[in-house]
Amino acid sequence: MATRNPGDLAAERAARGRSTAAPGSPGPPGTLTAPAGTVALTGGLSRSFGDRIVLDDLDLEIRSGEFVAMIGRSGTGKSTLLRALAGLDRDVTGDLTVNAAVAVVFQEPRLVPWKRVLANVSLGLRASDPRGVARAALDEVGLAARADAWPLTLSGGEAQRAALARALVRDPGLLLLDEPFSALDALTRISMHGLVLSLWERHRPAVLLVTHDVDEALALADRVLVLADGKIAHSATITVDRPRDRDHPDLVALRIRLLTELGVATRDADTLDAD
Ligand SMILES: Nc1ncnc2c1ncn2[C@@H]1O[C@H](COP(=O)(O)OP(=O)(O)OP(=O)(O)O)[C@@H](O)[C@H]1O
Ligand SMILES: [Mg+2]
Repeated sequence: MATRNPGDLAAERAARGRSTAAPGSPGPPGTLTAPAGTVALTGGLSRSFGDRIVLDDLDLEIRSGEFVAMIGRSGTGKSTLLRALAGLDRDVTGDLTVNAAVAVVFQEPRLVPWKRVLANVSLGLRASDPRGVARAALDEVGLAARADAWPLTLSGGEAQRAALARALVRDPGLLLLDEPFSALDALTRISMHGLVLSLWERHRPAVLLVTHDVDEALALADRVLVLADGKIAHSATITVDRPRDRDHPDLVALRIRLLTELGVATRDADTLDAD
């Protein structure tokens, strides 16, 4: 396990040089030249809503195939950052480079209710056989039997499996997961963890998972980021082999560190839901 001073990224950014907009300057984000093996790179990324600065000169690098988890208190800008990385927010400033196809899974599955599950997964897909690709993806997430079901007849876990399949068919190099398991019961959540890890091992996208659950981050990620005050306040690399024993001394120590970073008393809370 290793921690890195977030200031290191600022130094790297200065060394690489930026191509266009200065941090905080108006207009759409500029780009940085990302080194080989980097799928996403931000430098001085900022976003305000009125007077409220949510992202404040944020530096982030995500390497190809890396599984990154991001935690942070409610309202710190995690979803705002994901929207920026997904290209859904043109009002961020600073530098932003994403060198990969991006797919997003949100907290709620966002399936189109008047299309069957298979059609939801193949929706908008540019492939010679979109339905065949969609069927294969549903098979991978264990949902082949529900291909002809209507979304409203799915359980919460099934609906999130369908959302994962919909992301998978885009063959993303960067998979953004915004609290995709938070509405699921504990057992379903554990099985979804196993599914996401197996999909990640098979397809190897870089993953950025936003979660309120520190243990989820510790179970899944290669690196855990803490977002606070608009910046990456802390970054910790995890080298413990998967599947992970939550009582592994490295994980116990990191759990305490992360909860402390978040200002949560460790004896009081397992998750951050009680903000
Ligand atoms: N479109 C918007 N207009 C105004 N304010 C916004 C908008 N989107 C986000 N915000 C504000 O930006 C801040 C960060 O929001 P964001 O959704 O990114 O937080 P978050 O870290 O994802 O929180 P949570 O953990 O509760 O999901 C919040 O104060 C929110 O009210
Ligand atoms: Mg959010």
